[in-house]
Amino acid sequence: MKFVITGGKKLRGSIDVGGAKNAVLPILAATLLTDEACVIHNVPLIRDVDRMLELLTNIGRTVIRNGDHTVTIGPARRQSPIHTIDPKLVKSFRASFLVVGPLLARTRKIRITEPGGCSIGNRPLDDHFHGLRRMGVTIVRSDGMYTFSHRGLEAKTITLVAPSVTATENILMACVLTRGTTTIKDAAAEPHVQDLCFFLERMGARIKGIGTSTLTVTGVGNLHGTMHDVIPDPIGALSYIMMGLATKSRITVAGIRPDHLDVPLETLLAAGARFDIARHSITLKSSGLLKEMKIQTRPYPGIPTDVQALFGVLATQAQGTSLIHETIFDGRFAYISELARMGANAVVCDPHRALITGPTSLYGQEIRSPDLRAGMAMIVAALIAQGQTIIYDAQSIERGYERIVERLSALGADIRREE
Ligand code: EPZ
Repeated sequence: MKFVITGGKKLRGSIDVGGAKNAVLPILAATLLTDEACVIHNVPLIRDVDRMLELLTNIGRTVIRNGDHTVTIGPARRQSPIHTIDPKLVKSFRASFLVVGPLLARTRKIRITEPGGCSIGNRPLDDHFHGLRRMGVTIVRSDGMYTFSHRGLEAKTITLVAPSVTATENILMACVLTRGTTTIKDAAAEPHVQDLCFFLERMGARIKGIGTSTLTVTGVGNLHGTMHDVIPDPIGALSYIMMGLATKSRITVAGIRPDHLDVPLETLLAAGARFDIARHSITLKSSGLLKEMKIQTRPYPGIPTDVQALFGVLATQAQGTSLIHETIFDGRFAYISELARMGANAVVCDPHRALITGPTSLYGQEIRSPDLRAGMAMIVAALIAQGQTIIYDAQSIERGYERIVERLSALGADIRREE
């Protein structure tokens, strides 16, 4: 699939961001922790959610889409003692691996293949394995499949090597039903990890330290069904804010939590961006030329790696040389060569550092979307560029941004989807 974009148009109006992909995916996986119904609101209509719902159906749950953004996960249709998770589905998105924790909390053996997902560099699973092994899980790899088994999970203190988002979530979901106290040290504290914790609390889990790097979980006998509103997507919010800044458009980005965006917003303000921050929205004001930026991606509350490429595109429109320092992943600069082909003065120094000098005009080109988030950055570059840009492999962008073509068209962008 490709997107065809003619750049140079100012955007106008308001865009509602919707629920966070990286919150809803673990929350949907966590519904496996109960046989009772869970009703989830503010579910984004994106490919990764479709795949997670398919996975839950495949595992034996009833899935009902109640309306646009509400999903009910009903009781189990069947309870099989050994779960072998559909390898094709698991390979199709990374968050599929999040079913491991909740399934191990309720069954003694599962088989699952290595998960797929965006190609953004080395994505180890050692923290997942380390945490689960500490809890008494045996992990055997053969024929490309992992077999996880145990004779009852044990509450332990687990120190993660990296504050991994999905490892924290998997271990959390594994331990909420485990008798005793489990402590996860150097846990991830991202808003989506917090939202999973709040969902688990609504189900009856007992968790202390939410939003900090130490989570203490006291196991409970069982969890019950509940209702939950997924948090607004912080990455979506930043994507549209930076799109507005790059295209010098006075749009309103609504339905957001600005308190989840403190460090990125301060960074943009320091570069000269101007916006009004309300409780649940941000309206962009006209800014002069932005100044060069020194960007370093960090775990929350730092600048998320998922918006690094957007800062890269913004840097092409800022005065001076910006340093983009990607500290989390070693394969997130594939977009730089595409930007350079569009006219950007951008060089990759090493797998973690790039220098971008601006301001430069960008010109329409045939480019490809390297992955979901860099794909969004390519859309922003195309909206700034003079002439027509064709973005190939655009399907990856629809994994995480709901009806992106329709919603950007509503803001006045000249964009169409072609199969
Ligand atoms: C989550 O991926 C997100 N995905 C990613 O968003 C996001 O980029 C990433 O966190 C970082 O914020 C979901 O939430 C579904 P990590 P995850 O494990 O959990 C190291 C998007 O586009 N590490 O937090 O896979 C790893 O090398 C996606 O929405 C280990 O060392 O990332 C990296 O440097 C892309 N050992 C760092 O931790 C491990 O076992 C963060 O990775 C696991 C990770």
